Amino acid sequence: MLVTGSDILVPARAGKYGVGAFNTNNMEITEAIIHTAEKLRSPVIVQMSEGAIKYGGQDLANIVKDLATRATVPVALHLDHGSSYANALNAIRMGFTSVMIDASHHSFDDNVNETRRVVEAAHALGVSVESELGRLGGIEEHVVVDEKDAFLTDPEEAVRFIELTGTDYLAIAIGTSHGAYKGKGRPYIDQARIAKIGAMTSIPLVAHGSSGVPAEIVQRFRDAGGEIGDAAGIADEDLHEACQHGIAKVNVDTDLRLASTVGIREALKVNPKEFDPRKIFGPARDVMAQVIEHKLRVLGSVGKA
Ligand code: G3H
Ligand code: 13P
Ligand code: NA
Ligand code: ZN
Repeated sequence: MLVTGSDILVPARAGKYGVGAFNTNNMEITEAIIHTAEKLRSPVIVQMSEGAIKYGGQDLANIVKDLATRATVPVALHLDHGSSYANALNAIRMGFTSVMIDASHHSFDDNVNETRRVVEAAHALGVSVESELGRLGGIEEHVVVDEKDAFLTDPEEAVRFIELTGTDYLAIAIGTSHGAYKGKGRPYIDQARIAKIGAMTSIPLVAHGSSGVPAEIVQRFRDAGGEIGDAAGIADEDLHEACQHGIAKVNVDTDLRLASTVGIREALKVNPKEFDPRKIFGPARDVMAQVIEHKLRVLGSVGKA
């Protein structure tokens, strides 16, 4: 069933498990997400960025809504990194049940004001809201404390921000970054900061940049002819631990991008004569489903729906 983000995330925060929030850009990605969630009896969030809306628009939103409505588990359709009030409201008009307003690059006061007016409008329309405080960006373990603090979410500020805005869930900067290159070795994630913010707040917290960039997928990508540098993501144990301390929404895009490309490359490598799209996109969907299944198990949402 199609539900709001809060319907899914409030129980997750209380139950100390994470909900996967996977980015979609087409039918196969959407099916991999929702069908895997159904198989594992897991609630799930399907999110579209503004780029995804530009690419797939109402056609793609309708595919997600249709699959979500028919799904036997709770599914929310979420706007990822909404950049303005107008874009957040446009997503609601398109049928999204959850929207992010990302004004984290503005001053604290401007972030509060922009977030507050999205919250007001979204709530009037029965839609829940994610906002963000702090700056994402890969932060290496050796960066000095002062420099880290300049980027990462300040716990006291988070409390004030939540009070002032009425945001339903909050993305916090904890050292993760978007993409396949999150740092050398085991990329840094500030567990102490998560625990502190978690203890001082009660709303669900959101971790962006949560792809694991699994070594096995990276290897298959290379073996099938792909070129990729020193890729690294967030370790499974680190994500699992973060979900014990308040992280309830876990954003994943890169892992599905890699998985789908692995499926396509392998299919074409095995049979260079292939040109039936179903024999190309089908394997992509299968590899994505495997990666999603692994993630849902790590987050602990399996069996919660
Ligand atoms: O946070 C970024 C997501 O990975 C979406 O990326 O804007 O290229 O669709 P995109
Ligand atoms: P990844 O690049 O780690 O998949 O993060 C995606 C994300 O945060 C989308 O908002
Ligand atoms: Na988001
Ligand atoms: Zn993000």
